[in-house]
Amino acid sequence: MGIKIAVCISGRGRNLKAILEMAKNNQALVQVACVLSDKPDAPGLAFAREASIPTVIVERQKGSKTKAQFTTDLCRALDAHKVDYVVLAGFMQVLSSKFISKFESRILNIHPSLLPAFKGLHPQQQALDAQVKTSGCTVHIVTEEVDAGPILTQATVPVFETDSAETLSQRILEAELKLYPATILGLATGQILLSQTDRGVSVMVNPSFKS
Ligand code: GRF
Repeated sequence: MGIKIAVCISGRGRNLKAILEMAKNNQALVQVACVLSDKPDAPGLAFAREASIPTVIVERQKGSKTKAQFTTDLCRALDAHKVDYVVLAGFMQVLSSKFISKFESRILNIHPSLLPAFKGLHPQQQALDAQVKTSGCTVHIVTEEVDAGPILTQATVPVFETDSAETLSQRILEAELKLYPATILGLATGQILLSQTDRGVSVMVNPSFKS
């Protein structure tokens, strides 16, 4: 038992911070081997440094580096750490098919909506525009189609008539900060089981799972 993960970020890293805290409290179960960013100045990198976790910068500069080269660099950086899962936490890059197949069923993402509703950009605004009463967040496996991979876990939050995209985003983020660490821990303990079938990965979540 026990898993080794890499966390990929591009920005403020609130999910990363929550994951690092969970890993610190569950050292025998979850090891954060490295934190990778495509932005050298991502504020979230500070959380990794505070926790003495190795950081890796893999930049993708338009024009100067092709997607294929970016993929090669990402793979090289992650191969060095032999991780079980690649955890995307606000990583603002669309991954190549080659990368996704190399880490097949082992790349996780969190999306701030109840997938399959409101895929893509600005899901909180999409939820407000659709006047739904409930939204939330989803942890899913990354596949080629964006925000469409098998769902592991979800958490719901209410949507109020007075909400703006900012207030709803903040409420969803609070749910993310519980759901993502709990889901990773669930994979480490076997509360969440992934198994490969002929038709892709199948996900089994113990009914007692709580975020
Ligand atoms: C979160 O809202 C997450 O759902 C989305 O990107 C945001 C990342 O925030 N994928 P942070 O960098 O973890 O603070």
